[in-house]
Amino acid sequence: MSVPMLETCGLKKYFKVKNGLLHAVDGVDLRIEKGETLGVVGESGCGKSTLGRTVLQLIKPTDGTVKFQGKEITGLSRHELKRLRRDMQIIFQDPYSSLNPRMSVQELIAEPILINKVCRSHSDTFRLVAELMDTVGLDQRLSGSYPHELDGGRRQRIGIARALALNPQFVVCDEPVSALDVSIQAQILNLLMDLQEERGLTYMFITHDLSVVRHISKNIAVMYLGKCVELCPSKELFKNPLHPYTQALLQAVPIPRSEMKYKEMEVLNGEVSSPVNPKPGCRFAARCKYCRPECREGELPLKDMGEGHWVSCRLYETGTEGGDAT
Ligand SMILES: Nc1ncnc2c1ncn2[C@@H]1O[C@H](COP(=O)(O)OP(=O)(O)OP(=O)(O)O)[C@@H](O)[C@H]1O
Ligand SMILES: [Mg+2]
Repeated sequence: MSVPMLETCGLKKYFKVKNGLLHAVDGVDLRIEKGETLGVVGESGCGKSTLGRTVLQLIKPTDGTVKFQGKEITGLSRHELKRLRRDMQIIFQDPYSSLNPRMSVQELIAEPILINKVCRSHSDTFRLVAELMDTVGLDQRLSGSYPHELDGGRRQRIGIARALALNPQFVVCDEPVSALDVSIQAQILNLLMDLQEERGLTYMFITHDLSVVRHISKNIAVMYLGKCVELCPSKELFKNPLHPYTQALLQAVPIPRSEMKYKEMEVLNGEVSSPVNPKPGCRFAARCKYCRPECREGELPLKDMGEGHWVSCRLYETGTEGGDAT
């Protein structure tokens, strides 16, 4: 098998908080092949951004490993990480807050090029900036404009140009279209897909909205309170969701079926567990209508259900009767 672009093993990130340890990411195993997209979905606070940042080593993991192109990158020195940053970039949800309002479009795109000394001369830098503006579909006439003069879509194009400036191989897209109007969302998604094809990019695409990742992801990982509860090819997830939480999430995707809303309410009843000092057992137990006493005990690793479909749920344990949660 080829070396994956990215692989995490038992990745954990805990934060010390007033009343204990907050398990933001709690033992996540993922693999993304070169040129593919892994969608990471889940509700607000389930640890998606923390996972993305920990993968990029922007924050230090509490435990576990991250391998980039087969090389372990957890524990690299600052200098080594700086080199690695060229290959691993991030696109943020809200380009407005991540862009310096006092810098023009041209200056914003030139910034990473200048910091990393990519070009030998100023004319080379400005040539590269112009090229990047073309690549992301920004009109050259906008080079002197400031972020507040542009709409959300154009601002996100600046964010994408900045991420591409160092010619990365792997990009974490953290809710890159969530702040945009639906019509502009499609344009940015198309741009990201075109760039992937042209440059062979590998994406980890984070979103709370399953419909956004449906068509762009090869595989999708569903997260719930720091854990990956289901992982499988995108088509399979929409056709045959196994985890009760995934089923609930899918029912929230707008599909014109009148009974959907009712089922969603039914499954997502109950209190949301706290990620601080979490109780043993399944994190979704409190909200799951299939919950049984054994669901509140022990750890449950992802189980291989065949065809690349993995799920972590007692309903699918060997020997369990009535294991169909659909
Ligand atoms: N620096 C920090 N210190 C303490 N807790 C944190 C810190 N960063 C994140 N958290 C907590 O970790 C958990 C996961 O947060 P994270 O931002 O990764 O979630 P998310 O899935 O990206 O949510 P959203 O969809 O709202 O962006 C949350 O409970 C959050 O409050
Ligand atoms: Mg987030």
